[in-house]
Amino acid sequence: MSFPTRRLRRLRISDKMRELVQETTLSPKDFICPVFVQEDIEDRIRVQSMSEIERLPLKDVNEEVGKIIDLGIPAIMIFGIPSKKDESGSSAFDENGIVQKAISQIREKFGDKIVIMADVCLCQFTSTGHCGIINGNKIDNDVSLETLAKIAVSQARAGVDTVSPSAMMDGQVLAIREALDDEGFTDVSIMSHSAKHRSNFYSPFRDAAECAPKFGDRKTYQVPYTNAREAMMEVESDIEEGVDIVMIKPALSYLDLIAETRRKFNVPVSAYSVSGEYALVKAASQLGYVNEEDITLEILHSIKRAGADMIVTYFAKSASKFLQKS
Ligand code: PBG
Repeated sequence: MSFPTRRLRRLRISDKMRELVQETTLSPKDFICPVFVQEDIEDRIRVQSMSEIERLPLKDVNEEVGKIIDLGIPAIMIFGIPSKKDESGSSAFDENGIVQKAISQIREKFGDKIVIMADVCLCQFTSTGHCGIINGNKIDNDVSLETLAKIAVSQARAGVDTVSPSAMMDGQVLAIREALDDEGFTDVSIMSHSAKHRSNFYSPFRDAAECAPKFGDRKTYQVPYTNAREAMMEVESDIEEGVDIVMIKPALSYLDLIAETRRKFNVPVSAYSVSGEYALVKAASQLGYVNEEDITLEILHSIKRAGADMIVTYFAKSASKFLQKS
């Protein structure tokens, strides 16, 4: 009888041996934790489609951020839900807007103990629910750029570390970089939602952030999920425009694009594990079909294995607790 020439099982013989050869690791330091803050509410509002995720009143934000810091998570991503929406999304760049207030309050309390990132988009703030400004019957790219730049500058004034444009307007990184630099915010970094796909995995977020489009869809600005080369062109353009960190979004159905971005470009790569990815796991584990802890850690490790340096994830807190145990 001939013996196998290669015995890969030798290195799986014990926990310690498996630890020794483990290629991918996961830690709370890999996470960026989303925080939803809503204007003019007194009590927390649970997001129905996203178990354990809440919209916070401003007064509860620092307590939440304190918990995130205590778990060893280095960054948050702030999303605001304003009480007033209009066609130009003006509450997005109001210096007393909900996001600006949250940023300055967190900065004042925690200094540089946490990296403060904020979403730069219009859909939560426009009466149309679109990520750009409507002119006639279409979204006007270049008018939208001016607004996005204003939002970024207003967040920089409030003390943000990193602005994260997610509107998918062409030229958004350059417009924001120039506006920040003109105002002296050369140290504020940009993490762009570079390849944000027109995905069906965002529906729970629209419930969380009240930003569903009132008409039409986002097909004229988000990348079709069929196109990988187009996604790479988006990443390439953002790098040419001066982005600091690129993002692939969503994560789990887009691992090929994370891997390709990692291979092709020498820039930090983030992945956004979106609301639908979270909701599927939560729902299945509540039904007892999967083990929440095991499957969460497998998903997050696989996103790292694909090449992500950091992950924006609603699992940030729960996964950090799971990791502390193991
Ligand atoms: C808004 C925005 C969306 C998400 C992040 N920013 C929704 C959308 O494009 O419809 C989705 C995030 C998630 O699903 O977790 N520009």
